[in-house]
Amino acid sequence: MLSQIRARVFVSRRIPPKALQMLQAGCDVNCWDSDEPPSRKGYLDSVRGIDALFCLLTDKIDAELLDAAGPGLKVVSTMSVGHDHIDLQECKARKITVGYTPGILTSATAELTVALLLATSRRLKEGMRAVVNGEWGTWKPTWLCGSGLDGSTVGIVGLGRIGIAVAQCLKPFGVAQFLYSGRSEKPEAESIKAKFVPFDDLLQTSDFVIACCALTQDTAGLFNKDAFSKMKKSAIFVNSSRGGVVNQEDLLHALTSGEIAGAGLDVTSPEPLPTDNPLLKLDNCVVLPHIGSATYSTREAMAVLAAENLLAGVRGEPMPCQLD
Ligand code: DGY
Repeated sequence: MLSQIRARVFVSRRIPPKALQMLQAGCDVNCWDSDEPPSRKGYLDSVRGIDALFCLLTDKIDAELLDAAGPGLKVVSTMSVGHDHIDLQECKARKITVGYTPGILTSATAELTVALLLATSRRLKEGMRAVVNGEWGTWKPTWLCGSGLDGSTVGIVGLGRIGIAVAQCLKPFGVAQFLYSGRSEKPEAESIKAKFVPFDDLLQTSDFVIACCALTQDTAGLFNKDAFSKMKKSAIFVNSSRGGVVNQEDLLHALTSGEIAGAGLDVTSPEPLPTDNPLLKLDNCVVLPHIGSATYSTREAMAVLAAENLLAGVRGEPMPCQLD
């Protein structure tokens, strides 16, 4: 409980004003007022002596950083649903409560996942470039054909909130069957009539394979040579979760050798993807800069929820969305 004195808070980036004002009303806030992150040294210096940290998914919250903050740090609040950047065990050992922002970015992320899937399967990257480059000749019966969703099988790896929302968005396109794989069967799958299958079966039978799983020890590098070799040659792979679930060397090989037809990535490893990365040169690979949740209202809601989590944490109350 830190309410007797104003808690010292470090906010590691420029955030929507509404959330910053909420924090400033109750705490002494040091905000890194930039869209670019501080250097690691700058970050370590900035957290010294704070009570609570407002961070982003790109900030590595590990033992070194928690040590730098010191024993006063009691709250870490990330403006993200993903929390693979936070060493939760270290936080638990130090009795630091951790907040995150599930739920509110589900629709925006599902929407972007569908946009990415369509951009990849209907070859929008090539089409847009053809228009600009003057390669758009007469109407040709077989030019720039891609795969449609109607009658297709869609496999979702990691059927959490976002996976379900993606399936709900795709349903009206006439998808014949949804498959999913993951650690366990989900009762929510009933709402989209999705069938729980082993990972290999999903890879072998899906026309579209969508990664919606969190990055964990189990999923790191899950989409590797072996996985791509099991997919249909016509398969479209889409990843809007974390770059770390994909072995990008193996993906490059799968895309250039014709093992799969295309890939749409909203997340990569590293981020940003260096501009000389060979994936960026491929016609059958669409890469976006991690913009799944990037709608104005979603980003504001994420920041506000992260602020609410932080403020509850410094008052010693349960957070609206606390990680256990
Ligand atoms: C998250 O919150 O983890 C998302 O990746 C942001 O879009």
